[in-house]
Amino acid sequence: MTKSVVQLKGLRKDIKNKTIIHDLDLDLYEGEVFGFLGPNGAGKTTTIRMMVGLMKPTAGNVIIGGTSLLENYEKTISQVGAIVENPELYDYMSGYKNLIHFSRMHKGITKERIQEVVEQVGLTSRIGEKVKTYSLGMRQRLGLAQALLHKPKFLILDEPTNGLDPAGIREFRTYLRKIAQEEGVSILVSSHLLSEIELMCDRVGIIQKGKLIDIRTVKEESQETKWTFTVNQPIQAKDVLEQSFEGVDIETGEKSISISISQEEVPEYNKVLVEQGILVYGIENTKSTLEDEFLKVTGGEQVG
Ligand SMILES: Nc1ncnc2c1ncn2[C@@H]1O[C@H](COP(=O)(O)OP(=O)(O)OP(=O)(O)O)[C@@H](O)[C@H]1O
Ligand SMILES: [Mg+2]
Repeated sequence: MTKSVVQLKGLRKDIKNKTIIHDLDLDLYEGEVFGFLGPNGAGKTTTIRMMVGLMKPTAGNVIIGGTSLLENYEKTISQVGAIVENPELYDYMSGYKNLIHFSRMHKGITKERIQEVVEQVGLTSRIGEKVKTYSLGMRQRLGLAQALLHKPKFLILDEPTNGLDPAGIREFRTYLRKIAQEEGVSILVSSHLLSEIELMCDRVGIIQKGKLIDIRTVKEESQETKWTFTVNQPIQAKDVLEQSFEGVDIETGEKSISISISQEEVPEYNKVLVEQGILVYGIENTKSTLEDEFLKVTGGEQVG
């Protein structure tokens, strides 16, 4: 069985008689990247603040690596690395000096460890330069390096991709995945954007109005999704494809056909249709169930 690194047990926060976070229960496993997804004001930062000891829970507990945050604060917190809001970095110092500075907050961080995290976040060639010359993506990665220095079991990143462009997000994801694997940490990433969470995470928990309303596994990109081909002759198109691809399951619509295939197969299917004289006006990937779910639970308001 996969090991739980982090457990939230009935975690609750009341502020001025109002319940902001409602009895959250959640297990995070070793080496997984977990997405904490919810619209603005859902309670992501409040939950995270309780998990890193910046805010006291009204009820419930956080267990990390088997130790309890409420009963053994120091030991529990020593296993956590976090970036809540933006990483605190000194612009006028080099990336390396920043890491040396932060390494003094923990015992026993060696120069070798600093070198190792620098490599893990892909900053080796720029680490000697001042942080003010860094791009936003590089700053985020330096923040990541800093949070990793003391070898935490659990890494928490509150909206780490805020402001990054799609390429920056993709790059950040590559580093997160590598770190989760190489260090065996479990990582919690919060975001209000489904598209980001889908790219970065293995599982996602949807939070709304302080309640965890759904947890699901994110499908691999290579997995089959539904593709809709808009064509002039759906019935003929279905016949043509059934002859070329044995056992394929095709739904026909008035002006379209839908097939569950992987993205890699789309050109092949399209080629067959075109070669057989079917006119293809468009090919569309039907929304994932996760997106449907997210839109449904957030009332169609995907903030961001
Ligand atoms: N100190 C506080 N006093 C009163 N209300 C608070 C306090 N902190 C948070 N809240 C409320 O708790 C709710 C959750 O806020 P939180 O910042 O956790 O949301 P979030 O999911 O992080 O949102 P965002 O995506 O905007 O960062 C909001 O309604 C917020 O107004
Ligand atoms: Mg927040």
